[in-house]
Order: sequence, then structure tokens, then C-alpha cells
Amino acid sequence: MKIIKAKDYQDMSRKAANIISAQVIMKPDCVLGLATGSTPIGAYENLVNWYQKGDLDFSGVTTVNLDEYKGLTRDNDQSYYYFMNEHLFSKVNVDPKRTFLPDGTEPDSAKACEDYNHVIESVGGVDLQLLGLGHNGHIGFNEPSDIFKAKTHCVDLTETTIQANKRFFASIDDVPRQAYTMGIQTIMQARKILVVVSGAEKAAIVKEAFFGPITPKVQASVLQLHHDVILVADEAALAELG
Ligand code: GLP
Repeated sequence: MKIIKAKDYQDMSRKAANIISAQVIMKPDCVLGLATGSTPIGAYENLVNWYQKGDLDFSGVTTVNLDEYKGLTRDNDQSYYYFMNEHLFSKVNVDPKRTFLPDGTEPDSAKACEDYNHVIESVGGVDLQLLGLGHNGHIGFNEPSDIFKAKTHCVDLTETTIQANKRFFASIDDVPRQAYTMGIQTIMQARKILVVVSGAEKAAIVKEAFFGPITPKVQASVLQLHHDVILVADEAALAELG
């Protein structure tokens, strides 16, 4: 694993965006695996900025997102589709028909997951997967568990995740209790993985995930087994590594 130390959130965002833009420049028809959460927002801002300056072209790019809340429609402002559209899709020249997320409105979980696995296979897998890190070590919505789930599945969100995400909703009762998420095997099959982490409150989980035992209790720990992982984190998030 390569660790790139950034000064602060802004610096982390710029470094991460540089890596994503290198991917797009080197392979204009690449498949980007994208993530939501507050951490990648700054990286998306840089990409939009560089696109507007004419330095980046997304016309050949395909995107597959990690996850989506079950039960939220695309026009719900808390859905991950809405987030991606707000922060990236509507602001660059990516073809909307080539932006994929699990279908949160599909009530049949088995069908939603099977369909999404099919999408990922049909685009030929992921070239560069962007990941944030949950406070409990989740990646996508792969929550702490006794096992690693291979493919797209429906998860019951843990209490810590519901608590962490309630800041985005009017009330805690509005936070969906389930989500569809890409599985660990799919994430691990990405040819390159870029993890972005910022802030002191992630310092303990960064240490546990990247230097602790590999265990499904900390799903991100499996990334230690991937051959091409780049962790871009700010000083605060790296503080416990010594
Ligand atoms: C959410 C997302 C994850 C994300 C995580 C961390 O639950 N499903 O993909 O990495 O939370 O979010 P944040 O970056 O806001 O800390």
C-alpha cells in the first residue's frame, strides 16, 4: 500500500483528484468506481474545476457507484444518485447513460443486487475505485460482520452508521435502515483502489484498518491484501500511525 500524506482536507482532495484525473487522461474510456459521503466532495470539486478549464474530458468514462439507500428515489435529495448528480454528473460531460448506481427503488433486493452485479460485469469491472472509510471501518456499506460478502447485497445499516449519517436527514427516523452495496470481492477486483480519509475522528480506524488484523469486523482491513491501494489521508487522519 502506498500512503500519501496530505496537509489538510483541501490538500487531500487535490491529491486524490490528481490521481483520478491521471486515470481519466491515461485511459479515457475507463470505468471509475465512485463513492459518496462527505470525504470525496472536495475531490469532485477539483475534477469539476479542471473539466471546466478544459483539462479533463469525461465523455468516454463509465461510472459505477458503490452503494445506494434502499427505498430512496433518485430525486430524493438524500439518495446517492442525487448526491452524485449534484457533485459530479451534472457538472461534467459524462454520458448520463453511463453512470450507474444500484436501483434504490427496486423493492426486490435479490433482483436489485443481481441487476447491479450484471452492470458491473457488463462494463468490464472497475479500473479505479474511490473509497471513503466509515467510522466503523465500512467501505461502501459493507458493515462489520462475521464474513466478507462477495457481491452486491442488501445490508441492514448498523446503529453507528445510522447515527453517523443522520446529520444529512431531517430526523433520525428518516435515515433509511437498509442499503444496496457493492460487495468486497467486487471492490477487491478493481484494478486500482484509492482511499480518501480526513480528520482526527478517523485516526483510530485508519490504524486499525490498514495496520490491524485482517478481519470482517473491520471490512476495510481486507484492502491490505490488494496489490494496488493508495491511501490519501490528511495529517489528522494519519496521526496514530506514528
Ligand atoms: C457512508 C458511505 C461510505 C462512506 C462513509 C464515510 O456511509 N456509504 O461509502 O465512505 O459513509 O462517510 P464520510 O466520508 O462522510 O465520513
